[in-house]
Amino acid sequence: MTDEIFIIGGARPNFMKIAPLINELKQENIDFKLIHTGQHYDYNMSKVFFDNLGIPKPDYFLNVGSGSHAKQTAKIMIEFEKVILKETPKLIIVVGDVNSTIACALVAKKLFIEVAHIEAGLRSYDLMMPEEINRKLTDQIADYLFITEKSALSNLENEGINSNRVFFVGNIMIDNLDRNMESAQKNEYYKSLNLTYQSYGLVTIHRPSNVDNIKDLKKVIEILNYIQTKIKIVFPVHPRTQKNLKKFNLEKDLNKPNIILTEPLGYLEFLNLMINTKFILTDSGGIQEEASYLNIPILTLRKNTERPITIEKGTNTLIGNDFNKVKVCIEEILSNSYKKGQTIEKWDGKTSKRIIKIIKDKII
Ligand code: UD1
Repeated sequence: MTDEIFIIGGARPNFMKIAPLINELKQENIDFKLIHTGQHYDYNMSKVFFDNLGIPKPDYFLNVGSGSHAKQTAKIMIEFEKVILKETPKLIIVVGDVNSTIACALVAKKLFIEVAHIEAGLRSYDLMMPEEINRKLTDQIADYLFITEKSALSNLENEGINSNRVFFVGNIMIDNLDRNMESAQKNEYYKSLNLTYQSYGLVTIHRPSNVDNIKDLKKVIEILNYIQTKIKIVFPVHPRTQKNLKKFNLEKDLNKPNIILTEPLGYLEFLNLMINTKFILTDSGGIQEEASYLNIPILTLRKNTERPITIEKGTNTLIGNDFNKVKVCIEEILSNSYKKGQTIEKWDGKTSKRIIKIIKDKII
């Protein structure tokens, strides 16, 4: 066994969590290796984040690509096991709730290697979400659980996880936001789309529950079509959504002068759009947190959230796909009477420092 730490990244929402961690490990002169599973592989779903966030080239690229859940998860496990058998690290760090998270945690644990999970304990209590299954299983086997908000502590306690494995460290994505704010401000991407400050709403939709079936996707489009009668919309389209818009022949329904469609964007371009938007409409997990931190109104097209602090203290409202709720909230946002956010505990840009301190004290 070596003293080395392995950091796992695989899909887009992982990269903004591993970047601050890597930065901190470098500052502390701690050796690590970076493993990219290849769950996401297009330039604008993966490499652009490495370039924007200064993440080093991975030591291993597992090149697993897309597939059914079973195929993708199994492929990651098979490829990652080969790496672990060769290198035997002391600890692996997984982040978030994607297929790469559970696949690598499971492989490591069965080879007696300790596992740390960043963003542990979040629960939507909706097992129709693949991420909920990934989160629950990863937390059951992880040795160190780093949590972003206190709700995670009771969720984990209810699942029988001993609180001495759990550490409330805050939200590592906020470290990344802070570090990149100046570059995102200078970037001025919104101007290249001929937009002005707060003259538009920003949309991201990619959850299977919103886009995989024609009825749900049509409802989303209906909502977008209503909003674009009030204000311009910018919508960077995720590959899953793009595929389904095409499959169901719905692309033409978004062909409106007030709807600007783009490819998936890099971190800096997207952050630039976020800080200049009037509001966000999303079904993403991380964006609920980023918008809350930035005090930007955010409407979440889901019935539940695993991030309740964004509703209690942040700027988030769950709207499901309820048209009336959308109308009320949009009205409030446009008349500037929508709720304001409050400061959230330990979302302060120092989470990666807290995590590395714990790792130094307890593990290496
Ligand atoms: C995955 C995560 C989800 C996360 C999302 C962010 C799981 C179970 N889901 O969902 O939690 O919110 O990433 O993006 O891990 N595709 C491309 N290029 C790529 C990657 C994917 O075209 O680089 C297409 C493929 O057709 C693929 C589809 O997008 O079949 C979906 O990709 P997949 O990784 O299966 O799931 P996501 O929907 O991206």
